[in-house]
Amino acid sequence: MSEHAPVPPSDRRTFVAKVSAAIVGGIITLAAPIAGLFPLLDPLRRRSDTRGMVRVTSFAALPEDGVPRKFPVLDTLVDAWNRTENVPVGSVYLQRTGENAVRALHSVCPHLGCSVGYNAAGRGYFCPCHKSSFALDGSIADPKSPSPRGMDPLEAVVRNGEVWVKFQNFRKGSPERVAV
Ligand code: FES
Repeated sequence: MSEHAPVPPSDRRTFVAKVSAAIVGGIITLAAPIAGLFPLLDPLRRRSDTRGMVRVTSFAALPEDGVPRKFPVLDTLVDAWNRTENVPVGSVYLQRTGENAVRALHSVCPHLGCSVGYNAAGRGYFCPCHKSSFALDGSIADPKSPSPRGMDPLEAVVRNGEVWVKFQNFRKGSPERVAV
């Protein structure tokens, strides 16, 4: 006769359930603190506030005749230990389109990333690198332009006389506008 009495199935199930619960509990207990360590372990990882809106200039600074002006975009960069204010992150063309209405276009060419200039004579934009030209609304003006899409519009609002822009960058060289 065996020295060990057979374990009843219900006891076995209880044992397996307890072990499973302990393993799952252990994973949950460890996961939260480990996840919390990631920002500390990667001090160079930058979290930018550019996903939110940033103040760019006053509405009064935009020419009343609708000529666009280029403005730098300054933002706050934050990492695990530092917060740096007024860091240049790009630039935008702002154009007054009405009372308290503004159009914002990213100043970087969607073709390969050169800086687009305003062409006062042509009342539009021109990229000197490969000769893409764009209308004032950012659409492609010359069908021979190598740029696969028009200039990238940015969300902009006027609040209390200040122009705020949701600044973001987009993938270059692609017909689709994909935020990066
Ligand atoms: S980078 Fe602007 S046309 Fe090529």
